[in-house]
Amino acid sequence: MYRFVVCSFSFLALAASLPVYKRATLDVDILQFALTLERLENKFYKEALSMWSVDDFVDANFTEDFYTQLKYIAHDEEAHLVFLEQAIKATGAEPVQACTYNLPLDSPSGFVESLAIFEGVGVSAYLGAASLISSKKYLTAAGSILSTEAIHQAAARNAIGEIPMANSFATPLSANAIYSIASRYIESCPANNTKLPFKAYPELIVTQGLPTAINSSITFSSNGSLPNSTQIYVTFVSGLDITSVTGTRNGSSIKASVPEKASGQSYVFLTTGNSSNLTDSNILCGPAIIEVTPSSPTFNISLF
Ligand SMILES: *[C@@H]1O[C@H](CO)[C@@H](O)[C@H](O)[C@H]1NC(C)=O
Ligand SMILES: *[C@@H]1O[C@H](CO)[C@@H](O)[C@H](O)[C@H]1NC(C)=O
Ligand SMILES: *[C@@H]1O[C@H](CO)[C@@H](O)[C@H](O)[C@H]1NC(C)=O
Ligand SMILES: *[C@@H]1O[C@H](CO)[C@@H](O)[C@H](O)[C@H]1NC(C)=O
Ligand SMILES: *[C@@H]1O[C@H](CO)[C@@H](O)[C@H](O)[C@H]1NC(C)=O
Ligand SMILES: *[C@@H]1O[C@H](CO)[C@@H](O)[C@H](O)[C@H]1NC(C)=O
Ligand SMILES: *[C@@H]1O[C@H](CO)[C@@H](O)[C@H](O)[C@H]1NC(C)=O
Ligand SMILES: *[C@@H]1O[C@H](CO)[C@@H](O)[C@H](O)[C@H]1NC(C)=O
Ligand SMILES: *[C@@H]1O[C@H](CO)[C@@H](O)[C@H](O)[C@H]1NC(C)=O
Repeated sequence: MYRFVVCSFSFLALAASLPVYKRATLDVDILQFALTLERLENKFYKEALSMWSVDDFVDANFTEDFYTQLKYIAHDEEAHLVFLEQAIKATGAEPVQACTYNLPLDSPSGFVESLAIFEGVGVSAYLGAASLISSKKYLTAAGSILSTEAIHQAAARNAIGEIPMANSFATPLSANAIYSIASRYIESCPANNTKLPFKAYPELIVTQGLPTAINSSITFSSNGSLPNSTQIYVTFVSGLDITSVTGTRNGSSIKASVPEKASGQSYVFLTTGNSSNLTDSNILCGPAIIEVTPSSPTFNISLF
């Protein structure tokens, strides 16, 4: 699986500028954002299931049982979509409508690889939003949806031979980071959709095959606009750990060693500093999504 990096240094003007939000307004925006992501997932799964039959999945070496699970996954996502629509309507707001998408639907196996990634991003989205949600009712609902997304992620990872439980902790990501990922798959949205108060960072893509492993060198390439004078850090976000590694540059490429604390689906940003406080002011671009093969599990004898 190859991905390519483009890192440029101005924020894309995909979202409205950030007004000061009342907390209840922010809750509704988060519901709208969740609905935006669920609509994307829903479209992706429905298209895949309408394009490929059980035989196509079996020809691609998936089991019939996994195909059945895919149908349950699509059913769950539809239920999430309906739930969010109703929750948004109950606040008096108008739910965002479907957009037009640019989805990776080349083959059943590519679809399942992307599904595993999307579900992981879904987990990161709900987990990252948790600290922004003020209503306890919505927080419980977000936790409920998050758990289901994690089950989907586990099923898809298992089906493609990745360890489902590759990290002891799920990875929270900020709304802007999630928005950055989602906007790569969204071509355009209806003009009257509620504008979300989030923005997309410039894209960062890995220029080598994945998975990678701890201590391996991993290379990204920029489109030539890395600032010359600044030390650039490659910041890995994996589980609850944020680790910045000094990047080594060669022209428009930058490489770094995968840190010990990265495991499973992880996210990479280029940053101007090594602070674990990732903010808009130190993120240059990202996140790239990488897969880090987990180390063999070990146990601490004193904890038996
Ligand atoms: C490089 O970044 C610029 C500025 O964002 C963008 O317009 C251009 O398309 C990018 N080039 C490539 C090759 O992606
Ligand atoms: C399915 O598995 C068989 C046996 O391992 C292999 O020969 C074949 O190439 C695989 N097909 C696909 C589409 O991966
Ligand atoms: C946008 O317009 C369409 C049709 O004109 C309408 O069905 C939809 O509810 C509107 N969406 C929003 C978010 O106002
Ligand atoms: C990574 O490298 C460090 C330093 O050389 C070493 O102590 C550690 O055991 C390595 N970890 C793995 C998982 O290879
Ligand atoms: C950065 O350095 C390279 C090589 O030293 C040079 O070609 C390029 O013009 C410089 N870019 C900027 C923005 O200064
Ligand atoms: C830097 O990149 C060029 C190709 O872009 C490559 O030929 C060269 O070997 C690289 N240098 C180092 C030190 O990796
Ligand atoms: C972070 O960067 C500062 C300089 O900006 C340096 O003094 C410090 O040692 C770095 N910390 C780590 C963990 O790399
Ligand atoms: C992280 O940075 C933001 C913006 O610079 C700041 O408001 C916040 O207090 C910082 N958080 C921590 C834990 O340092
Ligand atoms: C094992 O657990 C004990 C108790 O929590 C802790 O003090 C110790 O550092 C742990 N050892 C390792 C190797 O993680």
